Amino acid sequence: MIMGEVQALEALCVAADSIWGDEDETIVYAQVLGQGKAVIFRFQRSPDSLPQSLPSRIVCCYHDLEVPDGAFTFQDRSSMRSALWSAIATVWPDCIKDPAIANPGIVVDILPGEAQEIVGRAYQEPLFDQYLALLHDTQPSDLVAEGHSPRIFDISEIVVLEVLGGRGCSKRVQFQDARKPSPLVFKGMDFQTYLLLHDDDDEFARTTVDVWRRSCKLIANMPRHPNIQSPPRYLVSVRDSNQNPVLVGHLSTYFAGGDLGNAIEAANARKSQIPLKQKAKWCHQMCLAITHTHRVAHTYHMDIKPANFVIDDQENLTLIDWEQSGAPATTLAPEADGTWDVEEQGTKENGSPKLVYTKYTGPERRNMPEGSGRESFHIWNVFPEWHASCPKALELAEVFALGRTMWMLLSQTANNFDEVERPDDVQVTWEGNHDTPSHWVKVVENCMKVDPNDRPSLDNLIKFWEGEAYSFKWQASSSFEAARFNMCRPN
Ligand SMILES: Nc1ncnc2c1ncn2[C@@H]1O[C@H](COP(=O)(O)OP(=O)(O)O)[C@@H](O)[C@H]1O
Ligand SMILES: [Mg+2]
Repeated sequence: MIMGEVQALEALCVAADSIWGDEDETIVYAQVLGQGKAVIFRFQRSPDSLPQSLPSRIVCCYHDLEVPDGAFTFQDRSSMRSALWSAIATVWPDCIKDPAIANPGIVVDILPGEAQEIVGRAYQEPLFDQYLALLHDTQPSDLVAEGHSPRIFDISEIVVLEVLGGRGCSKRVQFQDARKPSPLVFKGMDFQTYLLLHDDDDEFARTTVDVWRRSCKLIANMPRHPNIQSPPRYLVSVRDSNQNPVLVGHLSTYFAGGDLGNAIEAANARKSQIPLKQKAKWCHQMCLAITHTHRVAHTYHMDIKPANFVIDDQENLTLIDWEQSGAPATTLAPEADGTWDVEEQGTKENGSPKLVYTKYTGPERRNMPEGSGRESFHIWNVFPEWHASCPKALELAEVFALGRTMWMLLSQTANNFDEVERPDDVQVTWEGNHDTPSHWVKVVENCMKVDPNDRPSLDNLIKFWEGEAYSFKWQASSSFEAARFNMCRPN
């Protein structure tokens, strides 16, 4: 959000949250957060809208539609956003007085008025039923471990505070009830997310719901580990027209420390280095989390990167985001890009099995939903395949991802990956990192070896980082011992 665009809203203590459009290019939606509520507004252009009316101009500008006259759109997107947020600010005081606004499925239409320039009219959005239909069949047992009966809160009991980064479904929230102030994270599909994903066949929205259900169940059933996200604390429901609760999301603990990506950016902004002791501890904890994932939980993560490790109050890392639905190009192992198959053949000198990779040349194959993207790994996802056929190869692919993530931490590289579309697009350099011990650089480089057979195993990585993290403890306590010794020495 650019400063100035949201001035009118700020004056009302309302936060501008997001703007998005529909597939048919006739609607623009916007959500704001104010007075404990998240309210969605709609700007629509229909064949009988006046071309110079505000909703029509907003739709034309947002969707880049061709118009015969400059007066039928905006000069640029920034002026469009300013006009959009100001329009919402104009109707806000009346809207918020309307009790209907708190009902599920209510959207406020912004219309050209008679006397006034614009008016807001709350209406029941017809897509709300389609949204509920997508979620209707979800049972608590699809989301939590067997034998557990989680507490379920109605969505009206929850205040959205902020949309978190990532793909858009994660929100920082809090209970309406001021006696329960601790912040939580909502994940799932609220109505806003549905409107954002909705299209003709709702294929993508349906996949997103499935992915949410599976990830929720995955962490619920996973043996606990201190560096892995705990199962959801509560579930969230929305009431349908018969007042029956429909499960739409879950709530988990929010960690105020932010994620590792934020920590790297914050250190860079201060032009400071994260202490080596901290880096060693974090590398160790990342390796512990991934080892538990593969060796104890017998699964995989697939989205290893700094943004998916959050920092708790004791500055320990927790691995979040168990969607297993897409791998980031920045940390994806090159052999896991969907163009290779793998099998174990014979043994290496150290007795461990040797992995042999062959380029796939058969007919086109797909196990990812249409619309995931154009890269080979958006079409063929090797993770579930190798999980079943060659867990060793899967583990070594995640060792690569760990390597990239450890490199980002050690070299404090953050946020310049916009252009990265494939794994090889990342330039791994250690420039300006004179204080990273050379044996650390070597281990991390080994994790990123092109031939997975040359990468260290998770056991070796744990041993290495345990040793490094321990050496700092030892240094700290030995200097303490020395100080004590000096103090006690008779002079
Ligand atoms: N429990 C949490 N505590 C603190 N921040 C969180 C938490 N969960 C998510 N976040 C923040 O929100 C971002 C997106 O959440 P994530 O679960 O990774 O969803 P996505 O699938 O959108 O990547 C994370 O990168 C992190 O910055
Ligand atoms: Mg994430």
